[in-house]
Amino acid sequence: MSDHVLSLSGVDSGYGEVQVLDDLTMHLDAGEIVCLVGPNGAGKSTVLKTAFGLLTPWEGTVDFHGRDIGGMAPEDIVREGIGYVPQTDNVFGSLTIDENLRMGGVARSEGLDEVIGNLYERFPILDEKRGAKARTLSGGQRQVLAFARALVMEPDVLLIDEPSAGLAPNTADEVFEDVVAVNELDTAILMVEQNATKGLNISDRGYVLDQGTVAYEGTADGLLDNEEVSKLYLGG
Ligand SMILES: Nc1ncnc2c1ncn2[C@@H]1O[C@H](COP(=O)(O)OP(=O)(O)OP(=O)(O)O)[C@@H](O)[C@H]1O
Ligand SMILES: [Mg+2]
Repeated sequence: MSDHVLSLSGVDSGYGEVQVLDDLTMHLDAGEIVCLVGPNGAGKSTVLKTAFGLLTPWEGTVDFHGRDIGGMAPEDIVREGIGYVPQTDNVFGSLTIDENLRMGGVARSEGLDEVIGNLYERFPILDEKRGAKARTLSGGQRQVLAFARALVMEPDVLLIDEPSAGLAPNTADEVFEDVVAVNELDTAILMVEQNATKGLNISDRGYVLDQGTVAYEGTADGLLDNEEVSKLYLGG
């Protein structure tokens, strides 16, 4: 038995007839931030979708706390303790901040006010704006709301797809600080990031995905220092 919180082993997955992931194996341990990098179309988002039950693995297993959750419905996976923040459309613009957070808790039977109160304390910008429509938030603030919305279920694992996409560099840095803050709430994070160097800088470990399989893996520092990885994948 491994003590990984989440592990994908020998996973094949894809869309219709089109295979994207090919014998993919990776894991996430408690307390970690793990960054998934790689070229466009490598299959990074597909990994998160397969771990979250939006796609059913064709082969292999997705294990969460030692239980095979491969192909389980996303609403059940949320209850198991995995949250997912997609790259786009991750908040409801026409709802207020408070309504967005309450929506994040529809699958919770108790303790909703308390957990939302704690999130307001942790992310004061959301508290200040709790009555405002989410569409009035800046891009960075919207990303914080998307994280908080997923955290209402108090997941053990948060899957985050490209948190810095479309943000100015300063704003992206702030969002990465918020990713670290989320991790400090005892949430292990598997993050996809186009901005590989910045993503790895806040991570413990990383995987370089190419053509649906793991091309390199290691500590974040090891990957950042690896000349081949740097030349091929980090634009260095
Ligand atoms: N809904 C879909 N139907 C069919 N093919 C898809 C679908 N979504 C993605 N693909 C294909 O699967 C492959 C992997 O896509 P994926 O979105 O996982 O890549 P990615 O590594 O996240 O890329 P990016 O950096 O551009 O976000 C690509 O060839 C893509 O065209
Ligand atoms: Mg993607």
